[in-house]
Amino acid sequence: MNDFKERIAAELIAVRDRSLAYTEAEDDLLVRQHSPLMSPLVWDLAHVGNYEELWVLREAGGITPLRPEIDDIYDAFKTPRKDRPGLPFLGPAEARRYIEGVRGRVLDVLDSIDLEGPEPLHRDGFVFGLVIQHEHQHDETMLATLQLSGQPGLVREGELPRGRSSGPEEVHVPAGSFLMGTGTLPWAYDNERPAHEVDLPGYWIDRLPVGNRAYAAFIEEGGYDEPRWWSPEGWQWRQRSAVTAPLFWVKEGDAWWRTRFGRTEPVPMDEPVQHVSWYEADAYARWAGKRLPTEAEWEKACGWDPVAGRARRYPWGEEQPTAERANLGHRAAHPAPLGAYPAGAGPYGTEQMVGDVWEWTSSWFQPYPGFRSFPYKEYSEVFFGQEYRVLRGGSWAADPAAVRTTFRNWDYPIRRQIFTGFRCARSERG
Ligand code: AVJ
Ligand code: FE
Repeated sequence: MNDFKERIAAELIAVRDRSLAYTEAEDDLLVRQHSPLMSPLVWDLAHVGNYEELWVLREAGGITPLRPEIDDIYDAFKTPRKDRPGLPFLGPAEARRYIEGVRGRVLDVLDSIDLEGPEPLHRDGFVFGLVIQHEHQHDETMLATLQLSGQPGLVREGELPRGRSSGPEEVHVPAGSFLMGTGTLPWAYDNERPAHEVDLPGYWIDRLPVGNRAYAAFIEEGGYDEPRWWSPEGWQWRQRSAVTAPLFWVKEGDAWWRTRFGRTEPVPMDEPVQHVSWYEADAYARWAGKRLPTEAEWEKACGWDPVAGRARRYPWGEEQPTAERANLGHRAAHPAPLGAYPAGAGPYGTEQMVGDVWEWTSSWFQPYPGFRSFPYKEYSEVFFGQEYRVLRGGSWAADPAAVRTTFRNWDYPIRRQIFTGFRCARSERG
């Protein structure tokens, strides 16, 4: 195998190691549905193998199906999450055997196909990028399931850099057009394409995500009781859900505590807030006299280099994320303190845009002008419209392989179990 193929093989192995580590628990924990919002962990495990079989073995490799009878069980559209516990899905041991069998043949396909050929699934190893990113995304979902379960799941507690408190509250992004999306990153998803020019008026964006201290002040000042801070739908949700704090927070006396992977600890006031819905983020921003950034504002601030006139892959440039630049890849099971990554600053001075927490934007998940679905409609296209809000940047649980300036994630505005926070923005005028 050449160097590129070796790198792909290494990425396939790395993501699989992580999936297996996340599913090392007792069988009982793996087959149970911890929340109607999430799949049993063993479903995710076999689903990533089935996806790999479908895309690498059958579509790219022309190999006949290994287990066609299980396809429907692992089709996320045929079986919504709430129905998954009732399915005759493979048990943990069988699921591990199945995905291992698929993987062996995947490495054979990798060895034999021409990554420079004209076939779009093969070219630049696209289909391998697809399954690697897909598995990383499910790994993050599995962590969210473990967090929801309240079980002391597998969490790493690596050291993260310390925060620092100096620096401006906001940075300025001057008016002007930039290139949004990508036409060149070979493993970008269809929804990141094509690159297109977007002209934005000048705006201010917070240098850092909103922290727990600031969010607690919003709560103390009655933010959850004041309809004027909330959108109409947000206020309805607020009343219906009776939510009064981020998910996993409780107050005892004067102090806030949070439960994180089965352990209860004081809320670290200097970390970015996480586990808030889009409605809460939107209300906070209004209370703060600001608003959420649009997706375009977020992307320009993250990676548009005004001097070079082109987009950076990461805020700091093209080099891979390191422990000094961003909190990615589950180094520790929580966001790093605010200000921990001066080396990861973007072209306009924003920090912590990638890693730590996904960030809500004000935008609906919509196609870019000229969008073409590839390789299938159910990755992005069926989600476009006014139902999902765009999330950007990636969390501490996201892997660098599925994080970049142009990467788009999306979820329902009520979602709180994901590792999501936000930062605020405001227009230059009015
Ligand atoms: C992009 C995270 C919303 O988990 O539903 C996984 C990613 N797509 N399998 C999801 C995805 C197919 C997707 N999100
Ligand atoms: Fe999936």
